[in-house]
Amino acid sequence: MQESDLTSARCSVRIFLPESWGETMQYLLQAAGFGDTLIETHYPSGKLAGDGTHASFCELRLLITEGQLPELEGAVRTWVTAWELEDQDWRLSHEMLQEDDLARQSAWKDRWRAFRCAGFVIYPEFFDQPPRQMRPNDQALRVLPGSAFGTGAHATTRLALAAMRSLQQEGVRWERVLDVGTGSGILAVAARLMGARQVIGMDPDRMSAAQAQAMADANEVGAGSAFWCGNLVSSRPQPYDLVLANLVAEILIEEAPSLMAHLGTNGHLFTGGVLARKRSQVVSAMDAAGLRPRGGGRPWRQRGRWCADIWCHS
Ligand SMILES: C[S@@+](CC[C@H](N)C(=O)[O-])C[C@H]1O[C@@H](n2cnc3c(N)ncnc32)[C@H](O)[C@@H]1O
Repeated sequence: MQESDLTSARCSVRIFLPESWGETMQYLLQAAGFGDTLIETHYPSGKLAGDGTHASFCELRLLITEGQLPELEGAVRTWVTAWELEDQDWRLSHEMLQEDDLARQSAWKDRWRAFRCAGFVIYPEFFDQPPRQMRPNDQALRVLPGSAFGTGAHATTRLALAAMRSLQQEGVRWERVLDVGTGSGILAVAARLMGARQVIGMDPDRMSAAQAQAMADANEVGAGSAFWCGNLVSSRPQPYDLVLANLVAEILIEEAPSLMAHLGTNGHLFTGGVLARKRSQVVSAMDAAGLRPRGGGRPWRQRGRWCADIWCHS
């Protein structure tokens, strides 16, 4: 066998880690050029995740060449070290594949499962019908497979959906919604499904706008939804009733004045993607911009290490 045959041989990699890190890992793997990744979360059969039986871990599967393996292992080790995961919290294994195995790997769609979150049942667009576990008050939210972030599985996306539902249940209404870092468009589409008249999503990821618009169309809320490639700093400030910013602490700190400039007088800002140890820096930046968190010294809600906050004008 030649050396080139060895390095291009197909290799199936499985990465196990806490559920809350799954989608971040997926995003980083795709951004680093390791191709499509399937996330499988584990929960008892007959239940949907979100029924109060949250999976404690998830499994990411991807196909790479044998030559990519050392680079992949190095990257994963760097990330889990940065996230301070203990050795027992994660595992990476791989196996070399034969032709038969390759055919079986392409059956990834069969393993995709629906899950429940904040009154939504979230399932992929290639399911012909809504899942049978739908309850009368559940709202269907169809997601499209694609490279932009946001299948709904990540803890930060779930916190954002929960925050929107909580505001809605309080009687807060929003006409115009801005979704900064829209990714797949999941939050913008959810806002439209919850009654927003107009939603705008933006993201510097060039794959995002088309995927988000397709997702809005798949949920029959394409009209009234618009998406563009860009960021806040390059957009003209207009007042929105609700601004969603599921980003990371560093961007929130940098863009606090721009987020404030886009918030209507009685508007609400959601921020997510903030690790607990960085929240105080976000609070300082928002305070300087004229925004106060509803929870005061404590986050509105926290899931694992992720903090979510809802902000109003000071
Ligand atoms: C954590 S994902 C959130 C995706 C989706 N909104 C969700 O909640 O699942 C963050 C998104 O922010 C985008 N992003 C990165 N830098 C940004 C910036 N400066 N302004 C706006 N979006 C940015 C990324 O491309 C990514 O799609």
